[in-house]
Amino acid sequence: MKLAVVPGKAEIDQIEAALERYGVLIFPNQNIQPQQQIAFSAALGPLEETELEKARLEGHEEIFVVGNVGKGLVSFSPEDNEQELEWHTDHIHHKVAARASLLYAKEVPAQGGDTLFSCMYHAYDSLTAEQRQSYCEIQTINSASGLEHFLSKQNLSGTTGSQVGRKHDEVIRPLVRAHPLSGRKALYFGNQITIGIVGWEVDRSRCFISDLTRHACQPAFQYRHRWRVGDAVLWDNRRVLHAGTAYDVKNARRLMHRTTLRETEPINLI
Ligand code: OGA
Ligand code: MN
Repeated sequence: MKLAVVPGKAEIDQIEAALERYGVLIFPNQNIQPQQQIAFSAALGPLEETELEKARLEGHEEIFVVGNVGKGLVSFSPEDNEQELEWHTDHIHHKVAARASLLYAKEVPAQGGDTLFSCMYHAYDSLTAEQRQSYCEIQTINSASGLEHFLSKQNLSGTTGSQVGRKHDEVIRPLVRAHPLSGRKALYFGNQITIGIVGWEVDRSRCFISDLTRHACQPAFQYRHRWRVGDAVLWDNRRVLHAGTAYDVKNARRLMHRTTLRETEPINLI
């Protein structure tokens, strides 16, 4: 499929069904301008505008620029492969989360900079019956302060995030949600951005989230995308987590354009 062509109703239905079914869709060999990426994405639903100034593409507010080329380093990748990954689902900490994201590769490093995806249907289904029952009662607390904590542990100066120390909103969400298209349950959290569990002490919450990440993002549930220039990858934030991996930010170039689809409905555990 060519993203340069705005999809019609039949194609949109096909994309939406495949997105729910597979979680991650890959469109290789694209050659698109920002306006074409925006038009393709907007055909699927309403888009976010980029709040973070240094990630905003001038003249195209709907494009979020990821990488080390341009106004500054914007990265969701750890500094090196020894560091913990930042598994997340986009905008879980915003009042309106992101339903899906489309990332288009313009420049990629020869090594590293892969993106990992993990299936949260499998993550939920493989819990014990007891866990499934108790996790359905859990509400998570999500905040950008968790992301800052992740970034502050690294030496990547001037990377993503907003100003450290700023007061951030906290958004409460159910840990288990049913996907509106399938009714299947999926885990919904991030290992940094989820800063706590409602009613639990901080240490207990941290341990739980870190154990849960180990389970939910185990290699058996993962897909690793090794980027090639021209790849566009669309993922369903309702049913996969994703994480950037390290690359040589000082010497190699990485430039990606993301469009972000707004969540269109409140999702609860049905
Ligand atoms: C994102 C993101 C990961 C990557 O753009 O939302 O998490 O590998 N990107 O750049
Ligand atoms: Mn992301």
